[in-house]
Amino acid sequence: MIPSPNIWHWPDVYELENKVQDVDGAVFAALESIAPWAGRDVVDVGCGAGFHLPIFAGSARTVVGVEPYRPLVKAAKRRTSDDDRIRVVRGSAEDLSLPDASADVVHARTAYFFGPKSAPGIEEAMRVLRPGGALVIVDLDATAHPYGEWMCTDLPHYSPKAAESFFLTTGFDITRVDTRWVFPDREALAAVLGIEFSKRIAARALAETPGLALDVRYRIHCRRKARGFVV
Ligand SMILES: C[S@@+](CC[C@H](N)C(=O)[O-])C[C@H]1O[C@@H](n2cnc3c(N)ncnc32)[C@H](O)[C@@H]1O
Repeated sequence: MIPSPNIWHWPDVYELENKVQDVDGAVFAALESIAPWAGRDVVDVGCGAGFHLPIFAGSARTVVGVEPYRPLVKAAKRRTSDDDRIRVVRGSAEDLSLPDASADVVHARTAYFFGPKSAPGIEEAMRVLRPGGALVIVDLDATAHPYGEWMCTDLPHYSPKAAESFFLTTGFDITRVDTRWVFPDREALAAVLGIEFSKRIAARALAETPGLALDVRYRIHCRRKARGFVV
């Protein structure tokens, strides 16, 4: 498992974060044009507490949330128990425990697929996809400021350029999506910054954010599974 202190230790604040993120729905609009899921079978890898599962289930045929951390598996099951098109299973990106060629869209949002170490998960997603299906990876674009600068200051060993070039050289394309995060009040803003950054950077981010909105850019990497023979 890749440690995810934000959602593991502060699930309520992370739920708030999911609610304030991308208030215009720009990421889902971009995803829908890259890999439409209406009437199709979707897998959400590292689904956390299952926040995005009902969104896919709005039009998908089936949705499977895969999550390794037991308390989050439980939370995602609780959230989705009244929708029989959604199933939540304990598993990981490296071992989805799903049949070959059983999904049309494999989606992961800020989970597991952060760069070169994600090769086993890419292979596993390609196994589970049907020919013509798509693996779509949504992550924060740390080349865009101010959020990216805060991230890179906190994570000096993370290179967004190296992560991007890994995906570009392994058959993915990239779409950048600008979003607005809008908070109900400054306490909510401080709480979310507090689970995403070290104390020092959270304080700096709060000071550098006047008002209640934050511009955050995402990148979506997409790789399609070939149809027919691959030579
Ligand atoms: C930052 S959270 C994002 C959760 C969810 N995608 C969302 O946007 O609400 C990252 C998630 O990845 C999960 N994770 C950690 N290691 C993983 C792995 N090897 N395979 C799949 N998911 C993993 C964590 O348990 C956590 O739920």
